[in-house]
Amino acid sequence: MTSRKLLIVDDDKVAMKNLEQLLKREGYAVTATQSGGNALALLEKQPFDLMLSELRMDKVDGMQLLKRCRESHPDTAVILIAGHATLESAVEAMKLGAFHYLAKPYRQDDVRELVAAALEKNRLKRESRTLREKVAGYQDKVRIITQDGHMQHLLEMARQVAPTDCNILITGESGTGKELFARYLHHHSRREPGPFVAVNSGAFNEELLANELFGHVKGAFTGAHADKKGLLEAASGGTLFLDEITEMSPAMQVKLLRVIQEKEVLPLGATSPVKVDVRFIAATNRDVQEMVKQGGFRQDLYFRLNVVNLHIPALSARKEDVPLLAHHFLLKHAALMGKDVTELDAGALDLLRAYDFPGNVRELENIIERGVALTTGRGIEAAQLPDDLRELSIRTFRKKKGRLLTLEEQEQDYINWVLQEAGGNQTLAAQMLGIDRVSLWRKLKRYEVEKA
Ligand SMILES: Nc1ncnc2c1ncn2[C@@H]1O[C@H](COP(=O)(O)OP(=O)(O)OP(=O)(O)O)[C@@H](O)[C@H]1O
Ligand SMILES: [Mg+2]
Repeated sequence: MTSRKLLIVDDDKVAMKNLEQLLKREGYAVTATQSGGNALALLEKQPFDLMLSELRMDKVDGMQLLKRCRESHPDTAVILIAGHATLESAVEAMKLGAFHYLAKPYRQDDVRELVAAALEKNRLKRESRTLREKVAGYQDKVRIITQDGHMQHLLEMARQVAPTDCNILITGESGTGKELFARYLHHHSRREPGPFVAVNSGAFNEELLANELFGHVKGAFTGAHADKKGLLEAASGGTLFLDEITEMSPAMQVKLLRVIQEKEVLPLGATSPVKVDVRFIAATNRDVQEMVKQGGFRQDLYFRLNVVNLHIPALSARKEDVPLLAHHFLLKHAALMGKDVTELDAGALDLLRAYDFPGNVRELENIIERGVALTTGRGIEAAQLPDDLRELSIRTFRKKKGRLLTLEEQEQDYINWVLQEAGGNQTLAAQMLGIDRVSLWRKLKRYEVEKA
């Protein structure tokens, strides 16, 4: 590690030299000057982690240096040292953002400790800022985190089809990352500089959805006081993401099909259509093929949208992504909350691994976000995970061996678990199980025999 850079300013030469030697012995890279004006010039030239300055000096004094640092060099911490300390100047220094105000004569140990503390605080501040910047950075860059082979294959396929203009249907359970994939596709397409517009087809009734998608002209209906551009037009040159596509009414399906075929829209009340250049990405967590068979979704529209299908597997089918995603979300939310949380302890990870995540990645993210909010330490522990996750993990545990357990195996596992919960106390465990102590004892005896 490169040494931390310190700047010492004191017009009293002896005091300056003493401090310089003391801090050089600590291994810091120290620059010392007797003039405040010179200190200003040095601050402009190179970054310092910390400045220690005498308060009272001719021309440029310590208070002015402090102000300058706070205004122009926020990464430089400041400790003011006062030969003639007054309560007033101390208060002002702290108000202006000094890390500390030290009166002469000082103890060398105090200086050492103060300098170390100021540098550490600065480091943490910088670290959480870079984390925050990183998170902000990759939020718009669209990163899909995975180490699963099938997912890697999907990403590869996504990158291949992204630059083509063909429509894509993304399927997968709720929370698997369908919208994220849609953004990823847009990001890797030639339409990237253009808009990415998302619309949830299930969130509106038919009339409102038509108004959203197609827009209207002034006077098209009472209340239409001005022209309103529809989302199809707004997405022109870019990508329109149609979420929950199966929620569209039959009439809307027909209208959408026409737009895809004709590449033009007719806003409500308009007399001539508007050309649009849109790439469609649709998503659903339902079985569209089955819906087509049942007549719930138009087959022609399905074919138009489903030129390429990307099916995103449930999180429970790619368990090795769980720890990876958990850490990713941990850093993300720690940075967003400005907390110094970096660890997931082994117990918490075990619980996460055993859990089935019916809500997929979104559920995992919520769980981690909550854990980060709850923890007071540097890590998340099992205790900070939701109760139902702890309970549900018992259920998943029962089918751990790749096949379903027999009733007896199930019973054995359950008894062992209850015994653990009862702290090994058989009488208590029997009570919890609703059987008498002797029956419990017999069962345990039998399992032991089977094991042997
Ligand atoms: N592989 C991944 N890497 C990083 N973040 C992910 C990943 N998968 C999902 N996410 C995040 O999980 C959250 C849910 O993803 P998204 O909204 O894309 O899911 P969805 O399939 O559209 O869900 P729904 O069906 O409920 O609308 C988002 O915050 C998304 O950024
Ligand atoms: Mg979604």
